[in-house]
Amino acid sequence: MTQRVKGAFDVIPECLEKWRESHAWQHFESVARDLAALYGFQEIRTPVFEYTEVFTRSAGEESDVVLKEMYTFFDKAERSLSLRPELTAPIVRAYIENGLQQMKCDRFFYIGPCFRYDRMQKGRYRQFHQFGAELFGPKDPYLDVETIHFLMQLYKKLGLKNTALKINSIGDKEIREEFARALQAYFTPFTRELSPDSQRRLTSNPLRILDSKDERDREIAKNAPQIAEFLTPYRRTFFEDVLKGLSSLDIPYVIEPSLVRGLDYYCDTVFEVVATTDLGAQNALGGGGRYDGLMKDLGGPDLPGFGFATGIERVLLSMIAENSLGETKNGPDFYLIPLSPASKEYCFLLMKILREEGKSALLHTKNFALKKGLSDASDILAKKAIIIGEEELKTQIATIKCLSTRAEEKMPFSKILKNSILIT
Ligand code: HAM
Repeated sequence: MTQRVKGAFDVIPECLEKWRESHAWQHFESVARDLAALYGFQEIRTPVFEYTEVFTRSAGEESDVVLKEMYTFFDKAERSLSLRPELTAPIVRAYIENGLQQMKCDRFFYIGPCFRYDRMQKGRYRQFHQFGAELFGPKDPYLDVETIHFLMQLYKKLGLKNTALKINSIGDKEIREEFARALQAYFTPFTRELSPDSQRRLTSNPLRILDSKDERDREIAKNAPQIAEFLTPYRRTFFEDVLKGLSSLDIPYVIEPSLVRGLDYYCDTVFEVVATTDLGAQNALGGGGRYDGLMKDLGGPDLPGFGFATGIERVLLSMIAENSLGETKNGPDFYLIPLSPASKEYCFLLMKILREEGKSALLHTKNFALKKGLSDASDILAKKAIIIGEEELKTQIATIKCLSTRAEEKMPFSKILKNSILIT
């Protein structure tokens, strides 16, 4: 038997792992789309692959995402392509390429698959899905706050209560270079005690040691210098304005000095939202920040950017952990149960008419047994069953059973056909 690729999964109508059920995904997507409209974000869809340089020039050659996790391959014309590990850089690429600045579009949202070759575990997959938003425009702390509010509202609308917003400011490139030198000086005496990954980062990207998951690295990092000490007055004020804005919208936050994020394009505000219910190691629900130089680095106008992405799998897992997924499955309005071949013919026509009238309807075709018909109707969460046998054909009066209350009523065919049966 052929199998799915390791680290990928199917989303199916019914599954023991509830987060893989398609109605749960539809529920997430419909809440996310409605909210995006409220905040003025329009949908953008980009290809799942890009020229590799879109990512090496944005996320950074030294980032784990590019260095270790990207699915990169050569196509038949020997061009280096990569499956997208994230969407910020592709959206910026598309913005430039489609001249969206001229069209005055500056707020985008997306839903789609991303690919990272990483160690598989609960909440971490090789094909996973992000819902995200990117906003291009003047550098204004209000935009940071508004976009974070969008993400926090999404979690709230999905019923998540146990989330925590962690935020930090990482200044600009020069500040980070100075900070990196200070970190190098601090960590060098501990070189032999650091994990192999952090030893490598000591020369390549010392900031990344700060978000190492290794216990010993974390212990050593506790007394490391903090980036806040290096921020210029302008950047400190910008960050304070963001924090003030969050407070004014009643968004609780925790300043996390070690939060640096794994992608190189960020500056100033960076943030992550973690699940505080037990999701195991993969508790980062979403994250993002400001990326003012990225558009220019990718050959576009010098336009600041801000955005976030949230992993749909992790949000659904959290919703299950917090019992907020509920019953999102929707059965048909009507299940037609014929009790004889002649009534089946009639039911078949009735089904067609109901559908044309905008009511969802399904026909019981397995047999002519009422009991089995009703149990199937319940299984598929039908709202009402329409039962038609020889007697009903003769009298032209059907039996209609409401499957939640079990109440029955008789209704003349003519009334059904006039579309006068409404779901109550
Ligand atoms: P990121 O933090 O790399 O940011 O990913 C965002 C979210 O995607 C994570 O918080 C997590 O929920 C989910 N995620 C990441 N990797 C995996 C995985 N292997 N399996 C399951 N879920 C995963 C970005 O991607 C940035 N582009 C966010 C951004 C947008 N920054 C500015 N704008």
